[in-house]
Amino acid sequence: MIEADLAVVDAAELVTIPGPAPKIGPRLAEAGVVSRGCLAARDGLIVFVGDEREYRRQVHLARHGVEIDATGRTVLPGFVDPHTHLPFAGSRENEFVERLEGATYESIAARGGGILATVRATRQAGIDDLVRLGKGRLDIMLRHGTTTVEAKSGYGLRLEDELKQLRAVQRLHDIHPVDLVPTFLGAHVVPPEWGDDRAGYVREVAERMIPEVAREGLARYCDVFVERGAFTVEEAERILDAASRHGLGLRLHAEQRSAGGGARLAARLGAASADHLEHVTEEGIEALREAGTTAVLLPGASFFLREARDAPARRLIEAGVPVALATDCNPGTCPTEAMTAILPLACLRLGMRPAEAIAAATLNAAHALGLAASRGSLEVGKAADLQVVDVPNHLHLAYHFGVNHCRTVIKDGRVVVEDGSIRGRDGNEGGARPGTP
Ligand code: NIG
Ligand code: FE
Repeated sequence: MIEADLAVVDAAELVTIPGPAPKIGPRLAEAGVVSRGCLAARDGLIVFVGDEREYRRQVHLARHGVEIDATGRTVLPGFVDPHTHLPFAGSRENEFVERLEGATYESIAARGGGILATVRATRQAGIDDLVRLGKGRLDIMLRHGTTTVEAKSGYGLRLEDELKQLRAVQRLHDIHPVDLVPTFLGAHVVPPEWGDDRAGYVREVAERMIPEVAREGLARYCDVFVERGAFTVEEAERILDAASRHGLGLRLHAEQRSAGGGARLAARLGAASADHLEHVTEEGIEALREAGTTAVLLPGASFFLREARDAPARRLIEAGVPVALATDCNPGTCPTEAMTAILPLACLRLGMRPAEAIAAATLNAAHALGLAASRGSLEVGKAADLQVVDVPNHLHLAYHFGVNHCRTVIKDGRVVVEDGSIRGRDGNEGGARPGTP
């Protein structure tokens, strides 16, 4: 018999998202659905996946073990969100209304709004504020089924404030059930105090900030926003070279508002991901495929900016590029914490199928963060990170939109969300109940 301390039984659909990772081409649509599916875990790791009959024959649940009845429900891996700007202060609903009245994202940025508005708010915030705000967002993420989150700095734009953001992320990782993967984004835009001295700021990022971030072990990745009004390919390369030399993995904001060669740069440097890609060219797609760089698509951002153009997801999938999905959670271009908001957009705007979107939001997203060996799918030996969702099949995750169907979340084999609410945790750092930020 297989000994277990946790079991989820009798799911209408157990959606396993079988590896190997990354899932490429037609394999992205293979969800690995088990009807009347059961899963068992011991000490935080999955020890059994199969149907009801095999479960009854093979698994012995410990006397104090927990059995969760998933009758009529769908069980899938916890979402992995591989692109967020989590530790920010303030909000930009005023800009949202301005854009509805005809202003553009660029015109708002040109008068010191946009990213710089959030930089001002984040510089003013203390680390405790960032932790409190981040915790509120992570609580929402967890209640919507997300169990692992990448979190970027990039609203500090000077050493002390970038470090403050990354230290907040480190503290959040320590106190919250959601696992965080920190990314240094000092090169988000050139902050105003550097005026025209772009080269000076690039040097500051490469020669002062990156070494300090690396010395303190505060980031696993370095990201650069390659765009008109942000950084050129040459500037990005200088910064990412320094990041590589300091042992950081690489990611890029690439081809979001214009085709600028960011995808080719990501491929050439062996980046883990190139993100956005609304304007990626055929050459860029070919370069990503060859390098095996994951395309992290952010349909929430193009939707929220009312862009005419979305990332060419079907073309990327066809070409054999690994495709992942993320929220881009940030106050300017996608103020949502919920991967469940992204799945319908991936289908309706990018033409992905529900099964593809789910795989892109779980296993391929874990792959984009270098975590696919332990996260992102329901397979024996991997961490028991999963969610029980009150829908009869996986299609409903994209189809029945705008509602949180997630009832139970399990992280590393422990129930952290029960009946849709976060459970108190060991010690006094418990996940907050809804309504207590
Ligand atoms: O991913 N593209 C650059 N950075 C963010 C936007 C940040 C903001 O507007 O505050 C993004 O869309
Ligand atoms: Fe972003």
